[in-house]
Amino acid sequence: VDDDDMQFIKMHEHVSDLFHHILMHTNEGSEALNYLLDRGFSSELLKKEKIGLAPKMSSFTKNAILEKGFTEEAAYSAGLLSRNETNFSYYDRFVNRIMIPIKNHQNYIVGFTARSLDGSEPKYLNTPETKVFQKRHLMFNLSDARKSIRNQDEIILMEGHLDVLKVKSLNIENIVGLMGTALSEENINLLNRLASNVTLMFDGDGAGQRATVDIGETLLKHGLNTFVIQLPGGMDPDEYIENSGEESFRYLVKNEKRHYIHFLAEKLLNESMHNDLAFSQNINTLTDLLTYVNDDAIRTRLIQHISERYGMDKSQIESKLPVRTSQKR
Ligand code: CTP
Ligand code: MN
Ligand code: MN
Ligand code: MN
Ligand code: MN
Repeated sequence: VDDDDMQFIKMHEHVSDLFHHILMHTNEGSEALNYLLDRGFSSELLKKEKIGLAPKMSSFTKNAILEKGFTEEAAYSAGLLSRNETNFSYYDRFVNRIMIPIKNHQNYIVGFTARSLDGSEPKYLNTPETKVFQKRHLMFNLSDARKSIRNQDEIILMEGHLDVLKVKSLNIENIVGLMGTALSEENINLLNRLASNVTLMFDGDGAGQRATVDIGETLLKHGLNTFVIQLPGGMDPDEYIENSGEESFRYLVKNEKRHYIHFLAEKLLNESMHNDLAFSQNINTLTDLLTYVNDDAIRTRLIQHISERYGMDKSQIESKLPVRTSQKR
């Protein structure tokens, strides 16, 4: 963290405080505050996470920054202001949005994800890439989750920032959020250093399921024990908690954790019910993935499961596995 970085961070800490004050203690914030409270985010949580509101003004942030003695240029580089490329004037990047601060791994606020309130697109506007906000290096909530991740040797990974915050308010701490739907090489290496087990709990809709298939495969192939918790009815974790309640959510986390290959086997079986070519290809996909399972007990259980569900002898599946030579475990 050098002087420039520190300046970017100070700007973010300052405007976060202002946004938070506006949300919690002003008339202008009351509609957004009620929206969040109605959605089941407690004022305690909003305070702890310093959630805020960027008001409906085009130079609120700009004025706050200037008043604090920073320059517009610096605030632009930090991603807080936008620039009119015709006359080079500066204006606020974030207007009329719920501001969710994003902290780096040293626990400093380095950016925001900002949710629109009036249905305007994009639904989420993020800080652009800056010197201190490089999405490929960041994971949402990691600085708070790190200790619990170490203790439990498990990371639960989610798509949505509000999902992470809602689950956090249930005192489940080992949760981190993706920054967008892509997982960078840096993210993978970081996850690998932090824990041996990763559980994916993405949205239950089509996009979330596709992300589960893709990211799960990547993580498994990078040596992580990868598990999946599937949410029913296309819900995301936040919606599930609001609809089915906290106890039901805890039950899922405790009891419905399938290995990635178990999850994929079920999914592929459904898809190849009336397609024998796909059936055969899917068996090959699954046996190929089994070679990445280092835990003997889990591999045995998966082979058992696939043999039952796909109506094949265990020996038929085992014969498709490459011979394991002094594999790392
Ligand atoms: N996302 C994004 N830009 C969008 C839509 C989504 O960056 N236009 C990212 C955000 O990080 C978001 C995640 O994808 O948190 C999941 O998107 P979605 O499920 O649509 O949003 P939710 O987190 O469920 O938000 P909400 O519950 O407020 O609708
Ligand atoms: Mn979604
Ligand atoms: Mn949601
Ligand atoms: Mn969602
Ligand atoms: Mn099953």
